[in-house]
Amino acid sequence: MTSNRGSFTGKLGFILAAAGSAVGLGNIWRFPYLAAKYGGGIFLLVYIILSVTFGFSLMIAEIAIGRKTGLSAIGAFKKLDKRFSFAGVLAAVVPVIILPYYSVIGGWVMKYVVGFATGLGGAMAEGKFFDNYIATVGEPLAWFALFIGITAVIVLFGVEKGVEKVSKVMMPVLVVLTVFIAVYTICTMDGAWDGVLYYIMPDFSKFSMMTVVAAMGQLFYSMSLAMGIMITFGSYMKKDISIEKSTHHIEIFDTGIAFLAGLMIIPAVFAFSGGDESALGQGPGLMFVTLPKIFDTMPAGSVIGFAFFVMVLLAALTSAISLMETIVSIVMDKLKLPRKISCIIVLAVCLLLGIPSSLGYSAWDGVRILGMQFLDFFDFISNNIIMPVVAFVTCIVVGYVLKPKAIIDEVEESGRFKSKGLFAVVIKYVAPVCILLILISSVLNAFGVITI
Ligand code: PHE
Repeated sequence: MTSNRGSFTGKLGFILAAAGSAVGLGNIWRFPYLAAKYGGGIFLLVYIILSVTFGFSLMIAEIAIGRKTGLSAIGAFKKLDKRFSFAGVLAAVVPVIILPYYSVIGGWVMKYVVGFATGLGGAMAEGKFFDNYIATVGEPLAWFALFIGITAVIVLFGVEKGVEKVSKVMMPVLVVLTVFIAVYTICTMDGAWDGVLYYIMPDFSKFSMMTVVAAMGQLFYSMSLAMGIMITFGSYMKKDISIEKSTHHIEIFDTGIAFLAGLMIIPAVFAFSGGDESALGQGPGLMFVTLPKIFDTMPAGSVIGFAFFVMVLLAALTSAISLMETIVSIVMDKLKLPRKISCIIVLAVCLLLGIPSSLGYSAWDGVRILGMQFLDFFDFISNNIIMPVVAFVTCIVVGYVLKPKAIIDEVEESGRFKSKGLFAVVIKYVAPVCILLILISSVLNAFGVITI
């Protein structure tokens, strides 16, 4: 990818590739379980506010940095200011932490795809199916290896064009299916409406600092921010494409799909638990436990379940590809290795790193780091610690070293930057202060100093 910059097929190509990276398990798997856990409507509200201010500004900044420097994160930060080179390196570490555990979940999705295809739909709707499944050692590991292996093969053959094409078909189908499942659940299941209300009506008494911490981590994750990916995408972007409009498109799309995923899952949780709110706090297993139950009650449920999980799998793959592509291009650049060797090294490292996340639910389920499972720990350390640090440094570099004007000029290469006032204020003042507060509270919380 590094040798042929500017390779997107025009505006739509850029948006599709960036959306292919952004829309993934973060939207469909992670967003609903966080929204369920952190108070429903209040989480949604905080998320949307952060998305249109903070997520918007940071995404603009990253894309513009990439397009201005023509480099990916490590090189870009170094070029902008040597003192901040470490931010590029930190950003590069993030995908290395995320990709392995992301692939473990990708493996779970594959299992469900095959499950629906082979008539296991009914069995998967049983309450304990998912827990029992991840408590086995061999099968989840095998699916994980297959998922990451497929990702590696695709990256090896360098197929950004393929991602664009897949995204073009997958996104609309995913939206249609999600809407259909949400409407079906809400219209046919008793108690689902309470879930809708829980999800869209903010209950301010449920607000805590943790709502903001979780929402901000989710924002980085879902929009593929603070890990150098958008910088790399920006470096491939042509000057005549509007950064502002593209950012709006990606943002609306990404947040829209996350919203719909929540609307599909949370009301169903209410319906199946008979209003027992503890079901909301399930965490990572929520989607895998809830969806098969919906499909089980639906006419032709296993066909729809199969189709849905295939779309989730494609969304996960396009995201995993962008994660791996980023790591591979860094290895190629830094170690001056050919693509093939770099791919094999990255695959081997990610395979090793993913094993604890998978075994954390089975053979190693007694092990806790800071009170967390391996998978939760990797998720926490990347989303709630390293990414906020990278985002903070990005704001400081853009706000005070480079100055917002430089980014605004870059954006204006392709027309007027309408929200430049908002952008400058957020990047200089609002974002750094918020991120710092959030970072401190999530660290203190993790070490048990405070409970938020
Ligand atoms: N944004 C992706 C998602 O929502 C995850 C991802 C993170 C992809 C970082 C690439 C880079 O699933």
